[in-house]
Amino acid sequence: MKIAFVGKGGSGKTTLSALFIRHLAAAGHPVVAVDADINQHLGPALGLTDGQAAALPSLGAHLPEIKEYLRGDNPLIHCAEEMIKTTPPGPGSRLLRIVEENPVYAACARPVALDEGSVRLMATGAFTEEDLGVACYHSKVGAVELLLNHLLDGPDEYLVTDMTAGSDSFASGLFTRFDLTFLVAEPTRKGVSVYRQYKEYAQDFDVHLRVIGNKVQGPDDLDFLQREVGEDLYACFGQSGWVRRLERGDEPPLRELEPANREVLARLRTAADSSHGLRDPRRYSAQAVRFHLRNAESWGNAKVGIDLATQVDPDYVLGAERASTAGV
Ligand SMILES: Nc1ncnc2c1ncn2[C@@H]1O[C@H](COP(=O)(O)OP(=O)(O)OP(=O)(O)O)[C@@H](O)[C@H]1O
Ligand SMILES: [Mg+2]
Repeated sequence: MKIAFVGKGGSGKTTLSALFIRHLAAAGHPVVAVDADINQHLGPALGLTDGQAAALPSLGAHLPEIKEYLRGDNPLIHCAEEMIKTTPPGPGSRLLRIVEENPVYAACARPVALDEGSVRLMATGAFTEEDLGVACYHSKVGAVELLLNHLLDGPDEYLVTDMTAGSDSFASGLFTRFDLTFLVAEPTRKGVSVYRQYKEYAQDFDVHLRVIGNKVQGPDDLDFLQREVGEDLYACFGQSGWVRRLERGDEPPLRELEPANREVLARLRTAADSSHGLRDPRRYSAQAVRFHLRNAESWGNAKVGIDLATQVDPDYVLGAERASTAGV
């Protein structure tokens, strides 16, 4: 399952995605963790020192190798330079699995040992002031979109992404690439306004969205979220002393997390797992093509100098090859 955590700055995306990742890893499940937020904090939240986090390879810096690997011998893609972030896979493309060794993981992922279990971590790379001036956020997360479009993940395997919810996410197709999006909302007007904005953008794309209240302190907070979010409110994570300990530099073991908050993590997993059954590989591939054609027209064709629509095999459905072998 491909899961995203989005929300207003400071709402708790990194905290909740790191906790969810640790929860899954503790249960022994394979997890690829992806830091795709403007504020790159997932590494430290998973226990890396600042030095270790700074030494993580950045996906953006490895784009040429990633493209070269993924294109495989797809006859519709003549060279890596002709691949843009939305170029969809086709026959001959190399696909990624959550559990395998491949050159992309070798170059861009690092293992992170947790108190229970371990995960692979990938990061888009830090966003500097200069980046924000010239290269926009979506040029950095382009590598993540490419990876997700080439990922074959099965049940009980997870890719969890810490994202931003800024409107920049909607400039690319990345927000449509997840089986489930958790929107983290504090019980404040700003927290819920980000939810409304996200929902509005997302509803034309069948994005499966669930709101997780965070830093919920009592019945008033809960009432507020229930009133403002309605049935999209899926669970509420409380104001947590355990998270506070983490903030103070302690390393509390996951098993000491407050039982009610542990329960929330279990509920998130239930939602994630049930999203698998709602998948529609045809729609997923068709959306990839739709974003590719849109990007091709708006900047890709001019940049690469070819008609990028020729990269599309209209009959190709990601996952269909796997489904057909699994079915026999
Ligand atoms: N449930 C909670 N209980 C107590 N503190 C929390 C909780 N959730 C988050 N925090 C604290 O709130 C702050 C913001 O959390 P976090 O960094 O996870 O948010 P974010 O959405 O990832 O922020 P950014 O947009 O900066 O990436 C942190 O200091 C974190 O420790
Ligand atoms: Mg964060």
